[in-house]
Amino acid sequence: MPRFLLETERLMLQRLSRRDATTVDDAIRASLPDLNQWLPWARMDYTSSDTQAFIRESMLAWREDRAWDYSIRSKEDRSRHIGNVSFWTVSKLGKILEIGYWVRSDETGRGVCTEAVERILQEAFDALGYHKAVLRIAVGNDASDRVAEKLGFTREGILREELLIRGNWVDHSHWSLLDREYRALRRSGATR
Ligand SMILES: CC(C)(COP(=O)(O)OP(=O)(O)OC[C@H]1O[C@@H](n2cnc3c(N)ncnc32)[C@H](O)[C@@H]1OP(=O)(O)O)[C@@H](O)C(=O)NCCC(=O)NCCS
Repeated sequence: MPRFLLETERLMLQRLSRRDATTVDDAIRASLPDLNQWLPWARMDYTSSDTQAFIRESMLAWREDRAWDYSIRSKEDRSRHIGNVSFWTVSKLGKILEIGYWVRSDETGRGVCTEAVERILQEAFDALGYHKAVLRIAVGNDASDRVAEKLGFTREGILREELLIRGNWVDHSHWSLLDREYRALRRSGATR
């Protein structure tokens, strides 16, 4: 089981709880046009009861050891939710995890996502013994592709019509990083 609280140089990643509802909701509302472009759940008619349902489901998933969502907070201002990073197992046999993320619009372009995902990779590979991490990124989501590139992921190929986003079936790139690649990149300091 991953730790409830993970730290990086600038960030705290903490397990979501009920008291996060207001600040999570605020971050989603402030970012909806950007989130709506790529994430099927971020409909333009998204409401605070969707956030409450998301947090309830997230807490249940933690309890049932199914998926692990973290609130990304800045160490400088812990009261503000600046994004989400989540992971879950896609293959127990293959020891494969998938990672998902978003960052609130007024905090993008500062390396927050890359730093948060890097910490999840460390937890997954070093503490939890996963073998492979994967990302599924909509074709055209250049910022997210760039995060994958900076972290040393390899684009394996295209998954056809993987997700229905705003009424269109969208192809996704399938990216992956192996534990040995992660370790080699860390040794060389070349993940970013
Ligand atoms: C994708 C996302 C999480 C990135 O968060 P972030 O904190 O800005 O990410 P980082 O700052 O770590 O890295 C972003 C990189 O993309 C680059 N970038 C941003 N917009 C870009 C664009 N339109 N085209 C190409 N590169 C772009 C940034 O310059 C940066 O690269 P750099 O460090 O080489 O300059 C954020 O934009 C977001 O939440 N988008 C909406 C939801 C989403 O797409 N989630 C991911 C679904 S797979």
